[in-house]
Amino acid sequence: MQLSSVSLPSLLLLVLLLTTATPSNAHNITRLLTKHPDFSTFNHYLTATHLAAEINSRTTITVLAVDNAVMSDLLSKHPSIYTIKNILSLHILLDYFGTKKLHQITNGTALAATMFQATGTAPGSSGFVNITDMKGGKVALGPQDNGGTLDVFFVKSLEEVPYNISVIQVSKVLPSAVAEAPTPGPSQINLTGIMSAHGCKVFADTLLANPEASKTYQDNMDGGLTVFCPLDDPFKLFMPRFKNLTAAGKVSFLEFFGVPVYESMPMLKANNGLMNTLATDGANKYDFTVQNDGDQVTLKTKSTTARITGTLKDEQPLAIYTIDKVLLPKELFKDAPAPTPAPAPAVDKAADTPKASKDASSSPSDSPADAPGADSAADQTADGNNGMRVDGGRSVAMVMSVLLGLLMCLL
Ligand SMILES: *[C@@H]1O[C@H](CO)[C@@H](O)[C@H](O)[C@H]1NC(C)=O
Ligand SMILES: *[C@@H]1O[C@H](CO)[C@@H](O)[C@H](O)[C@H]1NC(C)=O
Ligand SMILES: *[C@@H]1O[C@H](CO)[C@@H](O)[C@H](O)[C@H]1NC(C)=O
Ligand SMILES: *[C@@H]1O[C@H](CO)[C@@H](O)[C@H](O)[C@H]1NC(C)=O
Ligand SMILES: *[C@@H]1O[C@H](CO)[C@@H](O)[C@H](O)[C@H]1NC(C)=O
Ligand SMILES: *[C@@H]1O[C@H](CO)[C@@H](O)[C@H](O)[C@H]1NC(C)=O
Repeated sequence: MQLSSVSLPSLLLLVLLLTTATPSNAHNITRLLTKHPDFSTFNHYLTATHLAAEINSRTTITVLAVDNAVMSDLLSKHPSIYTIKNILSLHILLDYFGTKKLHQITNGTALAATMFQATGTAPGSSGFVNITDMKGGKVALGPQDNGGTLDVFFVKSLEEVPYNISVIQVSKVLPSAVAEAPTPGPSQINLTGIMSAHGCKVFADTLLANPEASKTYQDNMDGGLTVFCPLDDPFKLFMPRFKNLTAAGKVSFLEFFGVPVYESMPMLKANNGLMNTLATDGANKYDFTVQNDGDQVTLKTKSTTARITGTLKDEQPLAIYTIDKVLLPKELFKDAPAPTPAPAPAVDKAADTPKASKDASSSPSDSPADAPGADSAADQTADGNNGMRVDGGRSVAMVMSVLLGLLMCLL
């Protein structure tokens, strides 16, 4: 009995160690290719297209890499980043082909599924690659939809982690009309269309109705743009206040939700601090503060805090996120009413007992949660919600420790 109550925590510790240790064992294609400077362009585009993360998340994978000279040929045609992604994803085989296996393919020929096929972008058989062991020990490759022509050759092995990941050099880019087909670049993407279809229709319509602000967004799409669109419910409630703004105020206000650089979610999490917006000019700051709140990212101005609630698009150079409140720039809303202290005690109480937290959630202070965040009451609620989230964590911890205690008594 004594023995088991001692070994249980250590068992738990072991499980914890094992589960947390797993990701560090995984391969990192970026690091593997860094050892091969001749492949730096290929490596750069694996990261830029987010394919690196996809490769790292899988085992039993083969990357067909091309050197900088071949990449520069490809880039000279100025494909959009989306087309590059399609082409490169055809070079990621969802099976392990080390040098040995390449030369010992059963019957001398095989078809390999690729990431291009797995993402559903490739129609029919166009996402498969034919690998054939030619006479004389040469290995030739070609996309299945290439009319039987195999004119890409295995050059050498770059990295092999047996049965996990193989990185091999091939002589040129696999020719595929489907993968190379022009994919709309960011400036051809219908920004307002994406927002409208995913909960930001009111904001998108308001932007569409304002040619000057629309043009600012459009002009920034190729160079890098991050949009934080307020969801429909808060924006609808905010509309009366928007209509009250001057013409110039409306333009600045709409531009305030765009940032003229591409910011992926990991970048936002890593780069907390002040962020300029499309509305920023010499005289007017129109900035907000990016701040992590646990696993979430918040945007703050003097009077409002909004949380990022979803990602509509995250593909260099364009990212679109939804936010749960209308963020108010201090340049336009100086006279926002001062915070009312009323809900604060309820929140403190909520932190102590789970029952109190239920009371707090039904208290009137919670109803403005769906409000546009335009007033201070909503801000108070936001803070209250944060408090309750922490409280939730505490309750879970308490339940866990009670369960653990019970378990140990039983043993
Ligand atoms: C992979 O390696 C690169 C370069 O060393 C590093 O910047 C990146 O954070 C690593 N990625 C992961 C998921 O560990
Ligand atoms: C190899 O060829 C033989 C005879 O043509 C056939 O029966 C077998 O299915 C082939 N194996 C593979 C893996 O294609
Ligand atoms: C691969 O292509 C070669 C040449 O066109 C063909 O003979 C072979 O049957 C193909 N292999 C597979 C598995 O389709
Ligand atoms: C191969 O992948 C497995 C499963 O992800 C992992 O446990 C193992 O450590 C990897 N092997 C090597 C040599 O990295
Ligand atoms: C973009 O989407 C909006 C909203 O769905 C639509 O009204 C507009 O016509 C679209 N524009 C283009 C150029 O397709
Ligand atoms: C619009 O502005 C006027 C004058 O500043 C103000 O009295 C009114 O409350 C504002 N309306 C809204 C909905 O903010």
